[in-house]
Amino acid sequence: MKLPTVIAIDGPAASGKSTLGERLAKHLHFLYFDTGLMYRAVTWCALMNGIAIDDELQVSDLAERIQIDVQAPTVDDGRINDVFLNGRDISWEVRQPEVDANVSQVSTYVRVRTAMTIQQRRIGERGNVVMVGRDIGTVVMPDAGLKIYLTASVMERARRRYEETRARGQPANLEQIMRSMKRRDAIDSSRMIAPLKPAPDAIVIDSDDYSIDEVVMLAIDYYRNTCNNSEC
Ligand code: DC
Repeated sequence: MKLPTVIAIDGPAASGKSTLGERLAKHLHFLYFDTGLMYRAVTWCALMNGIAIDDELQVSDLAERIQIDVQAPTVDDGRINDVFLNGRDISWEVRQPEVDANVSQVSTYVRVRTAMTIQQRRIGERGNVVMVGRDIGTVVMPDAGLKIYLTASVMERARRRYEETRARGQPANLEQIMRSMKRRDAIDSSRMIAPLKPAPDAIVIDSDDYSIDEVVMLAIDYYRNTCNNSEC
């Protein structure tokens, strides 16, 4: 039996997909690749260059021009991927609240998505990778050997994001986080191109029902038992 070499994990913000992806990658000695970082890099770059986020043409031109590299972390400061923009390390800049607030809008632009999808496939096609995002199982790597769609209630996800932010010593407001999360969910799920939804052959896990350790165990079980599509 040939085990999957590409694992796609999709789901809404703060559903636990990054933690799952990171732990699964570590367990399997695969690369962990958070594809949302690419949309974040474009957003950060647009903000830095004074480009209006609703100026689709300029944001798209920018996305096609810049070189974004996402790779295994080389600095031990809590990051789970390095992000480089034209060679500059922006691994923490892409986590700024201003990026959070604008990245969903940027990710609706068709030319931005096309540019990012090409870059993501290039890395995915090398194999031995756990890719985390919104459209990995549906669009970017539709032949992935294992697809997991991880979800959780908006209340639970907002609570997690609140705890994470506070743990980093930053101020956080639960109500505000919940409002912003609902807004992002709505944009991510209703966009015309590559909306957030489970692939028909994805395993859907609701993480409200499980601890993160249980989710990781479940995913490892599915990985060992999955061999039913074109990659196997
Ligand atoms: O996972 P995240 O919060 O870092 O993602 C940031 C944004 O990028 C989010 O609004 C959805 C979008 N995204 C996407 O559209 N497709 C992906 N494969 C990954 C992220």
